[in-house]
Amino acid sequence: MSNKVSPLAGVVGWPIKHSKSPALHGHWLERYGLDGEYRPIALSPDELETGLRKLSKRGFKGVNLTIPHKEAVLKFVDSITDSAALIGAANTIHFHADGTIGADNTDGYGFIQNLRQNAPMWDPKSGPALVVGAGGAARAVVWALLNEGAPVVRLANRTRIRAENLANHFGAKVEVVEWSEVSEAMDGAATIVNTTSLGMAGQPELRVHFDAALPEALVSDIVYTPLNTPFLEKAQARGLETVDGLGMLLHQAVPGFESWFGRKPEVDDELRQAVLNA
Ligand code: ATR
Repeated sequence: MSNKVSPLAGVVGWPIKHSKSPALHGHWLERYGLDGEYRPIALSPDELETGLRKLSKRGFKGVNLTIPHKEAVLKFVDSITDSAALIGAANTIHFHADGTIGADNTDGYGFIQNLRQNAPMWDPKSGPALVVGAGGAARAVVWALLNEGAPVVRLANRTRIRAENLANHFGAKVEVVEWSEVSEAMDGAATIVNTTSLGMAGQPELRVHFDAALPEALVSDIVYTPLNTPFLEKAQARGLETVDGLGMLLHQAVPGFESWFGRKPEVDDELRQAVLNA
């Protein structure tokens, strides 16, 4: 009889019941016939550190993190990757065999892989990027675009000071533009991304027009409920190529799954459907 222990991983949040990660990882485990389990785990902010240490002792290989833990976790982990340090948040936690806890951020990776998979001709180096929003998601997107060689990132946010803080954090390649001039700031951009919650079901839409955008600009949204946001619809009406935000969620899960369950999983239509139906 084998005494091999099934790999355990999960997602930690507060609350956790809306997370799509269990469906996502569960689909891959089943598809590849892998031994392992991926569980939703509710931990309040007060319980986060002790809770993670317990999971580590109980043999968990790692966890994904969701709201509200992504920033707080950096205060007590033993090691932090460059991407997590620069983004200032972690979405993937590794429990190492020596008992230490490592924090990584794969949101920027997920953002880029989604665009590369769905728009293979996209060249982030070919022109400035315009990022709308300056919250946590924007930090991952700005980091990723700079890392992929975007010459400049223009950043617009309703609350200007948040955009300025983010620009100061990332340096001279990030330029703050006025909230009232988002549409004009599309001029010459190779990449245009909404990272705000505007356009999400139940939220007002992002009021912009794409008149100044180059015909070859690639437009994306991190909102994926609905999949085709009003922002993306407006871009499509101008003939622009668009990529919806669901793929970012799917791709950000790949590195964690590979490290915990030992196989690099595929992101395809079958996975999209499984997550949409969950
Ligand atoms: P996340 O971590 O998901 O990015 P967040 O930190 O709350 O969440 O950021 C939400 C983003 O959506 C911010 O850029 C926010 O703008 P403010 O910094 O001005 O709050 C933006 N946002 C949310 N509701 C908005 C609205 N009604 N109009 C304009 N921007 C909005």
